[in-house]
Amino acid sequence: MNRQERIKHLIELRKKARLGGGEKRIESQHKKGKYTARERIEMILDEGSFEEFDMFVTHRSHEFGLEKQHYLSDGVITGHGTIDGRVVYIFSQDFTVFGGSLSETFAQKVCKVMDQAMKVGAPLIGINDSGGARIQEGVKSLAGYAEIFKRNIMASGVIPQISAIFGPCAGGAVYSPALTDVVIMSDKTSYMFVTGPKVTKTVTGEEISTEDLGGASIHASKSGVTHFKAENEEEGFMLIRKIMEYIPQNNLEDPPVTECHDPIDRLEDTLNEIIPENEHQPYDVKDIIYNIVDNQEFLEFHRHYARNIVVGFAKFNGIPCGIVANQPNFLAGVLDTDASRKAARFVRFCDAFNIPIVTLVDVPGFLPGSIQEYGGIIIHGAKLLFAYGEATVPKITVTLRKSYGGAHDVMGSKQLRADINYAWPSAEIAVMGPKGAIEVLEGKVISQMKDPNEISKYIAEKEKEYREKFANPYEAARYGYIDDVIEPRNTRFRIIRALQTLSTKKDKNPPKKHSNIPL
Ligand code: HXC
Repeated sequence: MNRQERIKHLIELRKKARLGGGEKRIESQHKKGKYTARERIEMILDEGSFEEFDMFVTHRSHEFGLEKQHYLSDGVITGHGTIDGRVVYIFSQDFTVFGGSLSETFAQKVCKVMDQAMKVGAPLIGINDSGGARIQEGVKSLAGYAEIFKRNIMASGVIPQISAIFGPCAGGAVYSPALTDVVIMSDKTSYMFVTGPKVTKTVTGEEISTEDLGGASIHASKSGVTHFKAENEEEGFMLIRKIMEYIPQNNLEDPPVTECHDPIDRLEDTLNEIIPENEHQPYDVKDIIYNIVDNQEFLEFHRHYARNIVVGFAKFNGIPCGIVANQPNFLAGVLDTDASRKAARFVRFCDAFNIPIVTLVDVPGFLPGSIQEYGGIIIHGAKLLFAYGEATVPKITVTLRKSYGGAHDVMGSKQLRADINYAWPSAEIAVMGPKGAIEVLEGKVISQMKDPNEISKYIAEKEKEYREKFANPYEAARYGYIDDVIEPRNTRFRIIRALQTLSTKKDKNPPKKHSNIPL
């Protein structure tokens, strides 16, 4: 070949590689409402920023006739590019080549970008659409998965890892996304399960559809495996780019601060009225969140899972923060097993990547009962307690209304190393609510009374007394557990000033191999 022919050959090879498993399979992918691996990368990254690695890699298998079928890139597209000008590494499984199944060489390609992302200190994005281990490659494929898992584990807490599931993700393959920081699933076109419907039926007799076993809706609402359910792939791409706005490149950097055009000192009079006069009446804590954050923008994680607690990213004067808030609108904002796990994982994600945490408290306590106790509320509640206690990022807590019992300690209390604790005048910080307290304290006296009128009058009096003593923020403020009682309408400004003050905070935990969080 002369020089020109060589260049022509290269161009032809590239063209061939870009066709993946061929036009027919691309068409079939599109018919399923799915994009191809390369189209996905183009839509996620900044235009023209993608630099591909290993386009000419092919598998080395000679089993089951595979030696006659070679596709350039071998079922996964890998490389790096930028999102809003920031470097990210990416791999995107190509379902048109052997169903995106993982071979030895496929795994090596993925490991290469993972290793480089670690060296460079840049986030890793993984797009999953695969039939799992390439059956013809047997144990080599399993070893390939383990190599990827190992890298997911080593990268955890060092670089952010985001997984999108836009097709099948089954068997042991699910564990790579599960090891990452954020999981996004596209609705109706993706699924995740350790064992599919057919094997499930054989082993347990249970008949269940793919969607009901491992669809996006199930994992977004019941298992909590996915943080986001995207209506379609486009929403998934947008979510990946959006998440990047709040996270740093790696654990040694701070998250990106942006210019803020929302006045930092805007007073929100509606906040002075937002807590109902009746302590049992619910309200939507998201109304408070939208009021206090920049431009009413709140990126909620786990929107459909454990709705009694709300977690997500927002900015205050351009500073990315994690928000954790009890939700009185759902189960009165009580802490249960799912809510504890959800919030604990989020707090640890923020802490790992230097994202300050703002906690909004209105919690009546932990949910009582055998279901919760058998479900391990002790161990799951301890996770949240542990996560808060271990976190060294700036932590600001605002108590809005109830903050009772163990849940008070857990939800970013001063003693669990919160830096600044504010309370609204409506705050009630106590061991328990007035009703429960009076039942315990006055039970004997009440049991000796006969006249129902006398009983209710006595209870009302005692509850009033208790309320005056404990159902307010001043008892806690008297001990310095609350740094200041603030006017609700001024909350945004007070949080922003606290964040500015804490921006140089330095805190660390004692040296250790790793902690032993109650898993
Ligand atoms: C090799 C595979 C494959 C696999 C699919 N293909 N999965 N090739 N190894 N695991 C190939 C098919 O032969 C087909 O090739 C093409 O990909 C598309 O597959 P279809 O079946 O035609 O597509 P569809 O009907 O959409 O079904 C998709 C699917 C199904 C549900 C994913 O292919 C499937 O059930 N695959 C097997 C899934 C599985 O059990 N994997 C192992 C999981 S255990 P042609 O040439 O016809 O286009 C596992 C262990 C991981 O992964 C361990 C980690 C520790």
